[in-house]
Amino acid sequence: MREMTVTILSSSFQCEVVQAESGRQAIEILSKDDSFDLIISDFNMPDGTGADVYNYVKKLPAKIPFVILTSQKKNQLLAIGSEIPIYQKPLSKQDMIKMVSDNLKSVARQPRKTFVPISISLLKQMKSINTALYIRLSATKFVRIFYEGVALDPADLNKYSEKGIEALYIESIDSQDFLATLTKTIFSDLAWKQVKEENVSESFKLNVELLRNIGEHFKVSDELIELTKNHVEAAIKIISKDRAFENIVQRFKKTENLHFSDHCLLIVHMAGFIISNMKLEKPEQQLQVVTLAALIHDSGIDDRLFDVKMKYLYANKLRHLKPTYSDELDIYEHPSKAATLSNSFEFCHPDVEIVIGQHHEQADGSGFPLRLKAKEIFPLSALFIVAEDCADFFMRFYPKPNWESYIASRKGNFAEEPFRQPFELLIKQLK
Ligand SMILES: [Fe+2]
Ligand SMILES: [Fe+2]
Repeated sequence: MREMTVTILSSSFQCEVVQAESGRQAIEILSKDDSFDLIISDFNMPDGTGADVYNYVKKLPAKIPFVILTSQKKNQLLAIGSEIPIYQKPLSKQDMIKMVSDNLKSVARQPRKTFVPISISLLKQMKSINTALYIRLSATKFVRIFYEGVALDPADLNKYSEKGIEALYIESIDSQDFLATLTKTIFSDLAWKQVKEENVSESFKLNVELLRNIGEHFKVSDELIELTKNHVEAAIKIISKDRAFENIVQRFKKTENLHFSDHCLLIVHMAGFIISNMKLEKPEQQLQVVTLAALIHDSGIDDRLFDVKMKYLYANKLRHLKPTYSDELDIYEHPSKAATLSNSFEFCHPDVEIVIGQHHEQADGSGFPLRLKAKEIFPLSALFIVAEDCADFFMRFYPKPNWESYIASRKGNFAEEPFRQPFELLIKQLK
């Protein structure tokens, strides 16, 4: 969150930003140099609160504007009272710019065509970035060292930090894109943390019986059933923040025609099952991505169209689909439409959009709408496709699916990576 704030500030204003990790560190910095134009402080910090910093700043001869940026509610900040402005984080870029402009007498906006520093520690936390990275040789000279879309190898970044370089640069023209990706990664993480703290139990109709039932076929633990339930409930709460998802939330409150909610629930369960058996990096984050993707991926398909889609699926007519009438067209377009919808929601991790947009692709290129081949498909999308395929097969032949025929009919489809590993892990767990 702090790194994001720094990136927004340095890409928007002509300024130098000094960071402190704790209240005490902030006070130490201020004791040596109090020539700051603005202090933005969190409230709860590991060592010294925002109130401690404020009490120190108040006594300084230089009257430095001070604001609190916190996730606490205002009434929880009694120690600060109403003397200073309190902002609720996370703040969007626009709100952050407004906060600075409102609290500073004069501030110059960053002119165009400059470079924005991104700290190496932040870059190490990002798997890949969608912009080129530069190194600064002098005040005006920058050289490109990473091209856009390249996966960032921490070892490469270490080479620079070992030389004492703290930041690399992006072109300010790219900062909008960079910030959008970064913001969504951070906001999504925060949203999950927040809903976990809220203990309000909502009455969603989750068919847990179904999970127990599939557990009779696979070596599924009771913990995983609980985990699925918790993640789906949390994800419904997260998407409830935006009216655009109202129809999905309502479908989880229905008691009749559970196709949609059962379908989503089962995908989360099977995907969670694969993730827990695969040694993936950041498994918790992957499960969060998959859960939001499962809830949103078929949002454009209503109950009637859902039945049409299933008929097409069972008749193997979704492969090489060339839409000729409106239902087919709606089916054909639903992955891209749902992906776009998820993209406009700031609490969705950027990977959610990718998984949703690719959820009807096939390894051999016969899927839709992008006709991607196996090697072009994102690994988490492939995992999702395998989970959905297994969930659909289970529902089709419920309660007695013939798994031998399932394996025989899917072996060819899922022979190539990134499908092979999730598929093999899944069938290995069959009882
Ligand atoms: Fe689906
Ligand atoms: Fe779908």
